[in-house]
Amino acid sequence: MVPATHFKLNTGAQIPAVGLGTWRSEPGQVRQAVSFALENGYTHIDAAFSANTSNSSSFTGQSDLSRALLPANPDGTRSIDRSWDQNETWRQMEEVYKAGKVKAIGVANWSISYLEALEKKWTVVPAVNQVELHPFLPQHALKEWCDKRGILLEAYSPLGSEGAPLLSDPAIQEIAKKNDVSAATILVSYHVNRGVVVLPKSIKESRIVSNSQVIALSSADMDALNGLAAQGKAKRINTPLFVWDLGFDDWYKQ
Ligand code: A2P
Repeated sequence: MVPATHFKLNTGAQIPAVGLGTWRSEPGQVRQAVSFALENGYTHIDAAFSANTSNSSSFTGQSDLSRALLPANPDGTRSIDRSWDQNETWRQMEEVYKAGKVKAIGVANWSISYLEALEKKWTVVPAVNQVELHPFLPQHALKEWCDKRGILLEAYSPLGSEGAPLLSDPAIQEIAKKNDVSAATILVSYHVNRGVVVLPKSIKESRIVSNSQVIALSSADMDALNGLAAQGKAKRINTPLFVWDLGFDDWYKQ
């Protein structure tokens, strides 16, 4: 079967299945990377939180731009008001959506326990939930929970973030060899075949192009990729950065 190029949001709108990740791109590099991506077929840019990526906001008019914002202090640490009820933030976002000021609203890094609390109050179901997702962190239970409610998952750090450590995994390399593609193509394709938006990050032009390639994977390959975490390879890469327990079972406890 030909892999999807777009998925349908619960708003009825279409979202491109592959978007350019920009988290951790250095200032200056991100503008060039986004500009190159837009000139080479990308219509979906993920502008992740960080002062480094704020430059990409100038591209809003040209693409389906998604943003995951978390306020930061001038020294780069997270600015968190622990007394604030985040469900109230969602209510305010719902107002913005209902006023027609945005096309869709979604969340990022929300675990099932957080979503269950929000579900009691939401009047608009989040369109997306962007989380760390890859074969070492497949989040099967979260995927099932979100699927049932029409929430589309988006995968950040699909290659394992900085240095792309998943590319050197022997099992992933074997699947790549069998399909005669790169390990990066397997890791990107994994999500699209699973019905998940994927946001590979690169500042290198050749990789930006190659990371947009998606192939159809057999159910045997998908089963193998879906089973890697349970075979002892489970690994969450980004946890300590948040300094906050987000309610995932495997969350780093301080
Ligand atoms: P660079 O930006 O220099 O290309 P993730 O998408 O999981 O966050 O991974 C991003 C990391 O993977 C970055 O270090 C990025 O480096 C690197 N990377 C992105 N695409 C590829 C690729 N096709 N092959 C090897 N490394 C890649």
